[in-house]
Amino acid sequence: MQQFTLFPIEDRDKPVDTQEWGTFKDSLRAPIHNWFTYPAGFSYRAVEFSLRTHQIRRGQTIYDPFMGSGTTNLVAKQHAINSYGVEAHPFVFRITRTKLHWDIDLDAIRDNLREVELLVRKQKQTLNGVDIDARLKQEFPELVLKCFAQNTLLDLLLIRDAIEEGGFAQDVRDFFFVGLTSILRQVSTAATGWPYIAPNKQKTTSLTKDALQEFVRQVHRMVKDIRATISTADPHYKDSFHHIHNADSRDVKSLVPDASIDHVFTSPPYLNNFDYADRTRLELYFWREAKSWNEISKNIRARLITSATTQIVRDDPRYDLADDLRVVSPEVYDFLSNSVRDLSQLRLGRGGKKSYDHLVSGYFNDMLKIISEVFRVLKHNTQAVFVLGDSAPYGVHIPTDELIGKIGLGVGFSRYQIDVLRERGGKWNDNPQRHDQTLRESIVTLTKV
Ligand SMILES: C[S@@+](CC[C@H](N)C(=O)[O-])C[C@H]1O[C@@H](n2cnc3c(N)ncnc32)[C@H](O)[C@@H]1O
Repeated sequence: MQQFTLFPIEDRDKPVDTQEWGTFKDSLRAPIHNWFTYPAGFSYRAVEFSLRTHQIRRGQTIYDPFMGSGTTNLVAKQHAINSYGVEAHPFVFRITRTKLHWDIDLDAIRDNLREVELLVRKQKQTLNGVDIDARLKQEFPELVLKCFAQNTLLDLLLIRDAIEEGGFAQDVRDFFFVGLTSILRQVSTAATGWPYIAPNKQKTTSLTKDALQEFVRQVHRMVKDIRATISTADPHYKDSFHHIHNADSRDVKSLVPDASIDHVFTSPPYLNNFDYADRTRLELYFWREAKSWNEISKNIRARLITSATTQIVRDDPRYDLADDLRVVSPEVYDFLSNSVRDLSQLRLGRGGKKSYDHLVSGYFNDMLKIISEVFRVLKHNTQAVFVLGDSAPYGVHIPTDELIGKIGLGVGFSRYQIDVLRERGGKWNDNPQRHDQTLRESIVTLTKV
């Protein structure tokens, strides 16, 4: 198996002060950040640390091309730093838009919440004699039916309809949408810890939970969060702008101007076969944004950069290593060609015949586009920070951090530095086969002079 040793091991293995970088758990405890538990979100403290380290100040502008649940942009707003953010997953985008909208009329929220409560109670009274089971079956796919007790699901349905049909302003609907989304997994009787849902495992603590009560409590909590966040934010936050887009960060020419950005802080999907679209399946089905695997593929999977084998159609030429990659870095191209060739051989001897070969080539084709765009939008004398993980499909080690660093040099960055954030177990996600590679999460810093 080939080794990729383009730069000295002693530089590569320098551990960073992980205390400063925090963990995702920090965000689960922080107001607004915790409105939605998104897998693979990073700690808000990591963003703060990067802004301090790179001396980004009020009035400057940062960009996150993989905005996700908006950690980077939320921190920016708290510090009166301008931000751009791009997220391709429409459901996640709607959540982030809501988290950044602090001007919402909080009194209207309280009044409208009372209306939702009244509507739900009124609707319930009209249900005498209605076959609830049939109604729910007509409304929801099997997965949703399995995740909730019948009474709870009925309440959730009535709340959802009250939000959607109550005639509220769009931002109020968004606020309620996030409130209801954030209690879904709490009131579910299935083991629904992120990222997996296990509908056949019962969580009995949820059986006694009243969905309407939980929803009302959550909305009040969110109102309090906005007040608390405003009171601790840099008072100049009102002068900052936050241009966020539900779009594809492989091409943002019409969205983010050339040389307009002072810092990039981002975490791309890791090359670890994590299917972001699938992991939001419960929510997508509940909100009628998709009814089936195929609809999720069409509406969401197809918009995301390649990072899971579930996105791959084998004979699509997009999964051939791009010639652009050869032009930018022959070294990276050669390394990847060999890895992809090994993987295409290995898959033939494995039960699942997973398309890890195409996964690797698709991932780096896409990352080349992202890094080129990041280079274009950055000003001179700035840095782009990528938090990412390496991987070892079928035991073939792909040192993502080094490859991204080299691609960075190829598109025009002057240097790159890799700091190892933590080492990860050798389990290849979604694949019971273990290998003996120690994987790592790293911070790759690209410098544009
Ligand atoms: C590791 S997550 C980022 C999490 C984020 N840092 C947070 O705090 O929530 C990667 C995100 O990239 C998004 N993504 C994937 N392909 C994309 C594309 N082509 N353009 C924009 N976003 C994309 C995924 O939907 C996912 O939300």
